[in-house]
Amino acid sequence: MVKLNTNENPYPPSPAVLEALRGAADGKIRLYPDPEAHALRARAATVYGVPADHILVGNGSDELLALLLRATIDPGDRVAFAVPTYSLYETLVAVQAGRAVCVDYEEDWGVPPSLASAGARVTFLCNPNSPSGTSVPRSEVEALAREVFGVLVVDEAYVDFAADHAMALVGRLPNVVVLRTLSKSFSLAGLRAGLAFGHPELLAGVRTVRDSYNVNRLTQLAAEAALADLPHMQANVARIRKTRTRLIAALEQLGYRVPPSSANFVLARRPGIDQAPVAAALAERAVLVRHFPTTRLRDSLRITVGTDAEIDVLLGHLRDLVAS
Ligand SMILES: Cc1ncc(COP(=O)(O)O)c(C=O)c1O
Repeated sequence: MVKLNTNENPYPPSPAVLEALRGAADGKIRLYPDPEAHALRARAATVYGVPADHILVGNGSDELLALLLRATIDPGDRVAFAVPTYSLYETLVAVQAGRAVCVDYEEDWGVPPSLASAGARVTFLCNPNSPSGTSVPRSEVEALAREVFGVLVVDEAYVDFAADHAMALVGRLPNVVVLRTLSKSFSLAGLRAGLAFGHPELLAGVRTVRDSYNVNRLTQLAAEAALADLPHMQANVARIRKTRTRLIAALEQLGYRVPPSSANFVLARRPGIDQAPVAAALAERAVLVRHFPTTRLRDSLRITVGTDAEIDVLLGHLRDLVAS
């Protein structure tokens, strides 16, 4: 099976992570984890240059997204985001009985001006965006943060594969929360570790609605070890970016249009040609990619950047299918 449908990292995490996990697999597992994740937050503070009291740890950034909404919106409150984007936003807004205000991304995946004026209590900006892989510059994120009515949550799940990030806005603008995950660039999707960076007053509300033991002992230790070995993550990211360049060139040769990707996946589009049969045919050949059956995305495939060998398998099948 070549699994290129959920944007996982094809390379293993730092050996230091596996060592930390092995070292922690002992009788201490009978004890609850540190509810404040002090050691992990201290490590994150050093790595990201943000004070530890501006950091909250979650059981994946998905949990942090859910907690942020639980803490900030009442039923009927508006939550805005540009679409297509990460589909969980809409689900979580519905769970909280909020009102999702979805505005269409521009044709070139620019942020629509109406996002800033949506009058939303919470605005999500997925940057780099999924499924497009595109990103907007920090100056635009900052302008959006200054314009929105409420909180701006910048979901930077894929930012290590990009050139720019918005961490500098944390603390400087009190309505900004930046979300990071260790699932993608750090190869820890199975352990569930996410980080929220924001003003302590804003995070205080989120703390009140979380389970005090939301992040388990092993995950805290593993995440700390991963953050302590940035060169390992950066080497994996460099490999993935190199493969991404090759993948995009090959897809373009096959007639796909691919917007510039700042993530570990690409969105490949054949204008006007439904890609559902292609995704299904690839799945029959044990290659999984993502297809979204919506008006805007029907003629596209979202493809995770795997290893070079995995991408060769994908391209081999795709050449067959597109030619036939
Ligand atoms: C844009 C975006 N945000 C957040 C997440 C969730 O990441 P985590 O594994 O930290 O919950 C994903 C996962 O695919 C994602 O695509």
